[in-house]
Amino acid sequence: MDKPSLQRDSFGSRFGVIAAAAGSAIGLGNIWKFPYITGVYGGAAFIVVYLICIALIGFPLMLSEFLVGRKSQKNAIGAFKKLAPGTPWYLTGWIGMAAAFVVLSFYGVVAGWCMEYIVKAAANAFAGQSPGQIGGMFGAFISSAAKPVLWQIAFMGLTAWIVVAGIKDGIEKYSKVLMPLLLVLIIILDIRAITLPGAEKGLAFLFKPDWSKITGEAILAALGHAFFSLSLGMGTMITYGSYIHKKENLGETAVQVTLADTFIALLAGVAIFPAVFAFGIEPGAGPSLVFITLPNVFQHMPYGHIFGVLFFILLAVAALTSSISILEVVVAYFVEDLKMSRKKATLIAALIITVIGVFCSLSNGPLAEAKILGLTFMDLLMWLSDNLLLPLGGLFITLFVGWYMKKSSVAEELRSEGVKAGYFEPFIFLTKFVAPILIALVFLKGIGLL
Ligand code: PFF
Repeated sequence: MDKPSLQRDSFGSRFGVIAAAAGSAIGLGNIWKFPYITGVYGGAAFIVVYLICIALIGFPLMLSEFLVGRKSQKNAIGAFKKLAPGTPWYLTGWIGMAAAFVVLSFYGVVAGWCMEYIVKAAANAFAGQSPGQIGGMFGAFISSAAKPVLWQIAFMGLTAWIVVAGIKDGIEKYSKVLMPLLLVLIIILDIRAITLPGAEKGLAFLFKPDWSKITGEAILAALGHAFFSLSLGMGTMITYGSYIHKKENLGETAVQVTLADTFIALLAGVAIFPAVFAFGIEPGAGPSLVFITLPNVFQHMPYGHIFGVLFFILLAVAALTSSISILEVVVAYFVEDLKMSRKKATLIAALIITVIGVFCSLSNGPLAEAKILGLTFMDLLMWLSDNLLLPLGGLFITLFVGWYMKKSSVAEELRSEGVKAGYFEPFIFLTKFVAPILIALVFLKGIGLL
């Protein structure tokens, strides 16, 4: 018998658990992606659909991941080997592992862009530039060979430096500082945005639904984004769940993390859209919204470059607490199942991911013509994670908890150490039926079969 709970590192406090798990969930997905897809799909009605997806899929899947991790006290692959020995369920963990490599490869690149933009904003580089010139600046930067790669390497180095220190002394310690910092930054930016003349239009865009804008495509985009934003389908929450103490109420933790993630996404919308409308800029600009539209907005504001610096620091901080959770998925597996030291595991994992990331970065410039299935390498990785790996990983996790695990065994874990789990029956219903069906729909649509 192994004695995992004696040997394993774990989170030291309840706040630490929330900070780390919310830190994983809150990332570029909230501040970069959520506002731009909300812009593309027309605003408030999209947000309502997104909130429904969060409740019906996000919550049960997050709780399922926590539960699998804590029950098994193992990493994303080891967890299935332990709870379902001799079955192919461990392949679910492999899907997660593949997703971790894929997502962090492009995530590190975009996070590197944020770091460059902190410097650009601090140097007041957008002052006096036309929107076209600011767009050109972004295009020239991401398509250059060396600079984005250097920033990506720096960002991955920072990620590895935190992960190598472990759970309590690394991930938890930094999340506990960085998450409150993120909250303060976003509140400052929100106050600035809602006090701009004409801010009401942006707020109406965010909060007054126009149902005619809701299409099937918008619903599926909302569903896909719920996965990405809550860090689900990859085993991140399985891995973090394995470090949560048995006395914690997992259902409550899952609710708190889900709410925190949603709240920050909405606050990011409030920081961005009033400014976009106040300066008469197109809200549906797509992925370039924060790198082109916002610098335009900032340069028209009094002291705008200071708000620009704060905004890009916010993005980089959010990205960092997410990237450490992704790297930890791989490191936990290397340490526990491949018996590497934490240092060696972190180095090897970060190195492989950084090298894949370099190709991602180059695919925006020197390698832009080298298309695979009609996509650049970076677009391909984004497509793979959004449409294939995360939904498939998530689908198998809900099926595992809803159908493979015994109900009594699920109940025993959720009610460990006398914890009350009044949500148990609705959770089982969502996990058995609602979530898998909805996830299957995203998956079929994602791969073009629907
Ligand atoms: N949730 C993160 C974000 O919103 O930026 C990204 C992410 C982290 C996705 C971890 C998936 C994951 F497993």
